[in-house]
Amino acid sequence: MRDITADQLRQLYIDFFVSKGHTQISGASLIPENDPTVLFTTAGMHPLVPYILGAEHPAGKRLTDYQKCIRTGDIDSVGDPHHLTFFEMFGNWSLGDYFKEEMIEFSFEFLTKVLGIPVEKLSVTVFEGNDLVPRDEISAAKWESLGIAKDHIYFMPKEDNWWGPAGETGPCGPDSEMFYDTGREACGPDCKPGCHCGKYFEIWNDVFMGYKKEKDGSYVEMDRKCIDTGMGIERTVAVLQGKKSVYETEVFQPIIKAIESLCGKKYGENEDDDMSIRIISDHVRTSVFILGDQKGIAPSNVGQGYILRRLIRRAVRHGKKLGIEGAFLSGLAETVLELYGKPYPELVEHKDFIFDGLVKEEEKFSLTLTKGEREFEKMLPFLIKQDKRVIAGGTVFKLYDTYGFPIELTKELAAEHGFTIDEEGFNVAFQKHQEKSRAGADQSFASGLADHSDATTALHTATHLLHAALRKTLGTHVGQKGSNITAERLRFDFTHPAPVTKEELKIVEDLVNDAIARNLPVTVETLSLEQAREQGAIAFFDSKYGEKVTVYTIGDFSKEVCTGPHVENTGSMGHFKIQKEQSSSAGIRRIKAVLEK
Ligand code: SER
Repeated sequence: MRDITADQLRQLYIDFFVSKGHTQISGASLIPENDPTVLFTTAGMHPLVPYILGAEHPAGKRLTDYQKCIRTGDIDSVGDPHHLTFFEMFGNWSLGDYFKEEMIEFSFEFLTKVLGIPVEKLSVTVFEGNDLVPRDEISAAKWESLGIAKDHIYFMPKEDNWWGPAGETGPCGPDSEMFYDTGREACGPDCKPGCHCGKYFEIWNDVFMGYKKEKDGSYVEMDRKCIDTGMGIERTVAVLQGKKSVYETEVFQPIIKAIESLCGKKYGENEDDDMSIRIISDHVRTSVFILGDQKGIAPSNVGQGYILRRLIRRAVRHGKKLGIEGAFLSGLAETVLELYGKPYPELVEHKDFIFDGLVKEEEKFSLTLTKGEREFEKMLPFLIKQDKRVIAGGTVFKLYDTYGFPIELTKELAAEHGFTIDEEGFNVAFQKHQEKSRAGADQSFASGLADHSDATTALHTATHLLHAALRKTLGTHVGQKGSNITAERLRFDFTHPAPVTKEELKIVEDLVNDAIARNLPVTVETLSLEQAREQGAIAFFDSKYGEKVTVYTIGDFSKEVCTGPHVENTGSMGHFKIQKEQSSSAGIRRIKAVLEK
């Protein structure tokens, strides 16, 4: 059997299918084009769905490629030696051309001749049949005729041997899966391909696409039958190299080595550390691919951006657990780029966006991570005293809202201490917050605004963003001294001892525009002034407020005592531009800025 690397395997696979009359096509973006039912491309066939359903592909009827894929269902399992969020998949397709028997011949030839896997090491599964589709005697007979022993051919039910659709609807069909027997002892008399004990590794799946699943859950037989196959690269390489885990292969080792040198710990010596190392290496690889995709996604609170945010924040937390000091993700991203820049040139093209996205998100979360963890840990002894093992929803919400902890991260943190979280309570707190924010936006508050048009409301929110951005850039000595808003512009006076430099103004502008781009929710709550202060809200005009104050929070970016009104979300505010920075009086600067549509 050949001991080959991922890069070599990529070449061998593509060359083999090209030699069999296939055209190599480019893999697609990780963000699916026509499938709103999933966030990411989950399989090689996913971008090809329209062609499997009948559209003519410009490259012909026989295609092959390698495709980047992300499956998010497994994020929380990442950390064990087997799960990955990102993986690459080789595939080949017949769009109404050859079918089952020819495909099985291709698979057998590639596995035994090209990769040199001894035939006795292979086991295969085929579909046992149901009301809709007959038992797959054709595939079983074909495998047997090629030399697979009868007792290495398993008939399995739909749960095991039916693939697809990729989202909720679309093409699907029975499949035949190929497994490599590692030679390890069987875990029991029922151990067979599909068992997760580690004896059998699935390496390839031939899907006989003959059906289309409809919205109502029914299956319709397609006139034109297609072949779709998929081979997971990382897993196959691990098998061929005799490794027990994908993390032991050259696909991950350079990333793991880089983490080792950052934290001074060795992979393989302590299970907890190993887990953190695996989490970081998987998550940083996936984050690089999401940021560096053709459709480059930045961290946010929704959709793919939220998955990215979770991955980055979880990696940062595990980095701290390992004792890594300072920002480390962009350094690891360099290693990922060295590994993948060639097969995925879009990563190199989007290098700045990748680094920028990682640095910003890591910085942002590092600021609150320690505080949030401290807050969390302070509470544990009280809960233990009360014999409680569940973290209240309100607390989980506070960690989310104030410290930027994705709920999944709090769940993991809780589990590490033997606690669970009240997810329902979190959802209630979250909903309540949203409702309050909407109610707040509807109310007509008295304020220093010239009117309450959409334009002035947006500029008012922009003033809060500007205020927060100035404090982040220049320091917390910055405080509001005056604000004047018309429908055209905002004017903001603030304490600062020197002119603000061009570079500083640029940073401030970028920070505000980034906050706008992230479409942050603006929420409102009523608190006592003391509570507001405790929560870190900026409150300057103390005497103007009575006992109770309204506090406006813009995502993780700003919290300020204010009478409103504000936009509900920052997303549609437009582009923030500073037009002028000048002196207002001694020690007070003035900025004029606009929102361009
Ligand atoms: N679509 C199948 C899979 O993902 C084969 O490519 O396994």
